Amino acid sequence: MAKNVVVIGTQWGDEGKGKIVDWLSCQAKAVARFQGGHNAGHTLVIGKNTYKLSLVPSGIVHPNVQCYIGNGVVLNMQHLFDEINKLQSSGEIQNITQRLHISPGCPLILPYHVALDNAREAKRSTDKKIGTTGKGIGPAYEDKVARRGIRLYELFIDNGKHFKNRLTEILEYHNFALQNYYQVGKENLLNVEDIYATTMQLAEKIRPMLSDVSADLYNINANDGNILFEGAQGTLLDIDHGTYPFVTSSNCVAGQAAAGTGIGPHMLNYILGITKAYTTRVGAGPFPSELDIDKPGTAGNQMSVKGCEFGTVTGRQRRCGWFDAVALRRSAKINGLSGLCITKLDVLDGIEELKICTGYILDGKPIDLLPIGADEVARCKPIYETVPGWKESTFGVKSWQDLPNNAKAYLTMLEMLCEVPIAIVSTGPEREETIVKRHPFE
Ligand code: GDP
Ligand code: IMO
Ligand code: MG
Repeated sequence: MAKNVVVIGTQWGDEGKGKIVDWLSCQAKAVARFQGGHNAGHTLVIGKNTYKLSLVPSGIVHPNVQCYIGNGVVLNMQHLFDEINKLQSSGEIQNITQRLHISPGCPLILPYHVALDNAREAKRSTDKKIGTTGKGIGPAYEDKVARRGIRLYELFIDNGKHFKNRLTEILEYHNFALQNYYQVGKENLLNVEDIYATTMQLAEKIRPMLSDVSADLYNINANDGNILFEGAQGTLLDIDHGTYPFVTSSNCVAGQAAAGTGIGPHMLNYILGITKAYTTRVGAGPFPSELDIDKPGTAGNQMSVKGCEFGTVTGRQRRCGWFDAVALRRSAKINGLSGLCITKLDVLDGIEELKICTGYILDGKPIDLLPIGADEVARCKPIYETVPGWKESTFGVKSWQDLPNNAKAYLTMLEMLCEVPIAIVSTGPEREETIVKRHPFE
């Protein structure tokens, strides 16, 4: 019987989803992305090669895996081809374009979305800036929901005439806002002819990759093939369930795997929640267990330096803090987690005492579940439990038995606090630096 696994970020992104999707891919027939866009940055380290993927699903390194980009993903075609070219130039990955299948229903990210994303951020006062990746993700999803967006299949109607008409109409609308509301100079407004010409060139290149993702995944499942659904971002960045408004513009939770590819929810058999052994966040917004990362010799500084906590997409330094079980409990419920994968355990090696956030005080009252929205989360004061760390290196450890006793005790405590069993522990960026307790595909 086929078994499909959804890999979901349970924190604010960058939990190590890419590494785990790649690791699980040897047992999958297909890997599908279902939301987000090239705001994602998923890192795979395989031998001497490091791959940074934003749109291409992390199964691509496995020569027999079919990769899908579902209707829930906002698509920047130029970026897609840049990423494909980079992967091809590594010389290690075969038949990329033959194995990459894209839904014609994907909304397109076009240059005006990037201009709007940047103009909005520039206009916000310092305390209101979201710290977006500047890739046009938010404006593209806004256009989709406003029924104004242009979807991939529209490029192929009526020899491009349909697209040109739609583009003319939509640019009139967005240029008006850019010029009159955001005070963008006339020389920086966007031009129909330029966008039309470059987009139509890309359309011809993408045409052979179009496929009915919904029907394909249905058939793979019916023919006993395992499917992996690769989440981007993380639950606390989800547009509905995250720390709104400091969130991304898509649903990043497990349920979206169904809507964002066009399959039924009964096909989501196992939900694997990825979490770091500590917490990070890139961009603005509340972060109750945040630590100072600048002071040498502190736990926060070790997380930042040893964890190489710099954003894959923007290069920004990630904020770091203790593991937050209150946030994880919320994530576990929203996603219906079947198992946890705890990554970057090795980053905590040598820290004498570790703290775990087990509750919050909100307006004088104790709570044990992350509240809704940024305002309340910002008022939460963390309650910590302190546990002993371990001196030994866990880097590259491959079996549970070989972990130091205090590391096992720390992990067992996280498991207990989150009320989800541990399936996998990751002890290094490489594919093989992984401990399996309960295999998601078994
Ligand atoms: P994603 O967005 O969830 O795929 O995560 P990113 O790739 O943005 O960030 C995770 C980073 O941690 C990457 O640089 C990975 O190579 C690295 N990484 C993943 N797992 C481990 C681990 O267990 N230990 C260490 N030291 N690094 C890891
Ligand atoms: P992966 O898949 C971490 C954050 C941005 C910003 C907010 C909104 O690698 O985990 P956006 O450009 O999406 O409108 O920005 O969301 N963000 C991420 N943070 N990992 C990601 O993806 C992210 N994608 C977006 O930093 O705070
Ligand atoms: Mg990332």
